[in-house]
Amino acid sequence: MLLSELIQEATGMLREVYPEREAREIVYAYLEQSIGTRRHTHIVEPQYEVSDSDAVSAMEAFGRIASGEPLQYVTGHADFYGRRFRVTPDVLIPRPETELLCRYLLAGGGMSRKAISTDNKRHNKMRLLDMCTGSGCIAWTLALEMPGAEVTAVDISDGALAVASTQDFAEEMARTGACVPKFLKADVLSHPDSSFCQFDIIVSNPPYVMDKEKALMRANVLDHEPHLALFVPDDDPLLFYRAVADWAKVLLKPEGYGMVEINEALGPETADVFRSAGFSSVTIVKDLSDKDRLVVFSR
Ligand SMILES: C[S@@+](CC[C@H](N)C(=O)[O-])C[C@H]1O[C@@H](n2cnc3c(N)ncnc32)[C@H](O)[C@@H]1O
Repeated sequence: MLLSELIQEATGMLREVYPEREAREIVYAYLEQSIGTRRHTHIVEPQYEVSDSDAVSAMEAFGRIASGEPLQYVTGHADFYGRRFRVTPDVLIPRPETELLCRYLLAGGGMSRKAISTDNKRHNKMRLLDMCTGSGCIAWTLALEMPGAEVTAVDISDGALAVASTQDFAEEMARTGACVPKFLKADVLSHPDSSFCQFDIIVSNPPYVMDKEKALMRANVLDHEPHLALFVPDDDPLLFYRAVADWAKVLLKPEGYGMVEINEALGPETADVFRSAGFSSVTIVKDLSDKDRLVVFSR
């Protein structure tokens, strides 16, 4: 089958569920990842043939995508902060908004006025805690970008922990001397275990989508991504931020700071959770679309 025919047929299938442009982008992305063609291959090489077996696998994958399954679950991976993470339906697909949290923290945006900075070449003995780690995208990114730092990450889901703890960055870890994050099962809605050490930085991207926001969400998210990772009750949408604040009161070093991703609709309310918990410095950080996206807090 000619590549151009495959692209045309696949785009036609995906147009049923995605706008034309997005359908085409998904087709290019899948083909690039699976058979290594580029977005212009079918134009510069009009006679490019796809083998029968590749065409069959591709059409099967496009069938799954056309039925609403996210591309990342079909290919089994998602890109985050320039690295490829393994994903399964047990974990939320890492989002660009969460890259902002990592970028902001690594740029020293957390607490330039405090003793901790992230601009050292090595971060020996710095201790970080990632609450609600999911695929481990934040934990691994910070561990790899801050060689020497010790990252602990917790989640309540066995499926998520199985994915997070088996991400494969062995080659980069060996090259940079970064420490492998420690992944532990914990319910962040209960009191932290006394065996936890004190942390310099606590980060979290907890569930924060209100049940009433389901109506605004696309079917491919609602039907395929884990609801445990996404939703909070309408009558108590900030319960996970209270939990982060409670853990931080016990586990954050006096000069440490915390950073959480937030629901853009609840910026001031989320900031108030940390103020009420006794953190005196609380800042809302906006994303590139000018939406409230992070809250940074310290004592
Ligand atoms: C929004 S996802 C974030 C995943 C990942 N940190 C990311 O940014 O892509 C929230 C995560 O919280 C976990 N979670 C939900 N309830 C929890 C609880 N009570 N204790 C610990 N983790 C919980 C879910 O399993 C899910 O992995």
